[in-house]
Amino acid sequence: MEKVRFGIIGSGGIARGAHIPQLLSHGKAEIAWCADVSEATAKDAAARAGTADCGTDYVALLRERPVDAVTIGTPHNAHHAAVMAALEAGVHVCCEKPLAMNVAEAQEMAELARAKGVITFVPFSYWFVPAARLLKELIDQGHLGEILHVTGYYSQGNALTPNATMTWRFQKEIAGSGALGDLGSHLISLTYLWAGPVKRLTAQMKTFVHERKLPGSDEMGAVDVDDDVQLIGELASGGLINLSASRTYAGRNNYQRVEVSGREGGVVYDNSHPDELQVSLGRAWHERNAWATLPVGRQHRLTQLHTFVDAILEGKDPADVRPNFEVGLEVQKVMEAAQRSAESGAWVDV
Ligand SMILES: NC(=O)c1ccc[n+]([C@@H]2O[C@H](COP(=O)([O-])OP(=O)(O)OC[C@H]3O[C@@H](n4cnc5c(N)ncnc54)[C@H](O)[C@@H]3O)[C@@H](O)[C@H]2O)c1
Repeated sequence: MEKVRFGIIGSGGIARGAHIPQLLSHGKAEIAWCADVSEATAKDAAARAGTADCGTDYVALLRERPVDAVTIGTPHNAHHAAVMAALEAGVHVCCEKPLAMNVAEAQEMAELARAKGVITFVPFSYWFVPAARLLKELIDQGHLGEILHVTGYYSQGNALTPNATMTWRFQKEIAGSGALGDLGSHLISLTYLWAGPVKRLTAQMKTFVHERKLPGSDEMGAVDVDDDVQLIGELASGGLINLSASRTYAGRNNYQRVEVSGREGGVVYDNSHPDELQVSLGRAWHERNAWATLPVGRQHRLTQLHTFVDAILEGKDPADVRPNFEVGLEVQKVMEAAQRSAESGAWVDV
C-alpha cells in the first residue's frame, strides 16, 4: 500500500482540530471523504482535507467510495453504530474516546474487530505526551519498582461558567456521562498505561451546575451528567489509585497532574510541562526526599495518528498497536464500575 486512504466519520471539532491535520501531516495518508450528519460541517471538513467528496450517510460512503481506514469523531452515542459499520466494511478503525456508551457496546466492538483482524485505535491523546511516554519507559525499565500509588487529577473549568450553553456533553443520552467519560477516561487510560488494570473501586459523582441555557434560546435545560468524579481503588497488581476528574475547577483550562510512586522511586507527570518529569528515583534520592527534573528525549515525540497510519502501512499485528479497542474496553469497564459505585455507594469489582 503506497498511501492509506481515509474516510472521516463525524467532522466536528476533533476531526478538524486533530484527525484531519494529523493525517495530512503524515505524507502517506490521504483523505477520500468526510461524513457528518450536518452537510455543511462535512463540506467544510472536506475542503480542509483537500477533497470534494463528502456526505451525510457514512454507510453509503463506505459502500460506494471504498477506503482503507476511518477515523470516528462523533458524539459518544454514535460511536457504536459507526464502528460496527466500518468493521463490517473491513476497514481499520480509529474511534474517539470513550470507546462506547457502556461495556456491552465496547465488548461487541472489540469482538468484531478481533474477528475482522483489522487494526484499531482509540486516541487517548495523553499517551502521546512526551513526558507520559518517558514515564512508561522508566516504569518498564524497573526504575520505580513495584507501583504502590497512582494519584492524580484532571481539571478543567469550562462547566463552571454560568452562561456555558447546553451541548451534547451535558446530556446523558448522548454522552453517557460527563466528566467521567470526557476527562476521567483519559486519566483511567493513563493509569492503565503506567500501572495496568484496576481490580476494584469506589466512586462519587457530583453535578454542581444543574441547568444550562439551551442553544439559541433563553430557556434552560437540565444537566443530567456529572461535573465531577472522584474514585479510589486498587490495581490488579495490588497498588492503590486515587483519581479525580472535573469540569468545574476555577482557573483551570486543561490541567493534569499525576504522581506515580513505587518502592524504588516516584515520578510526577504534569501536562503543563509536557517535555519533562519530576523524578525521585533510586534510594540515594528518595531517602533524601530529593527531586530533579528529567527532560524527555527525541524518541519520545510522536504524533498520535501517525502511529495508526504507520501500523497500517507496516501491517502490524493489531494486538501490538496501542491504545487499541482492547484498551478502550478496559477503560470502559472502570468507567462503568465507577458509575455503578456512585449510584450504590458501595465498593464494586471492575
Ligand atoms: N482525544 C481527545 O483528546 C479528544 C478531545 C476532544 C474530543 N474528543 C472526542 O471526540 C468525539 C467528538 O467530539 P468533538 O469535540 O469533535 O464534538 P463535536 O460536537 O465538535 O463534533 C461531533 C460531530 O459529529 C457529528 N455527528 C453527530 N452524530 C453523527 C452521526 N451519527 N454520524 C456522523 N456525524 C455525526 C456532529 O454533527 C458533529 O459535527 C467525542 O468522542 C469526544 O469525546 C476527544
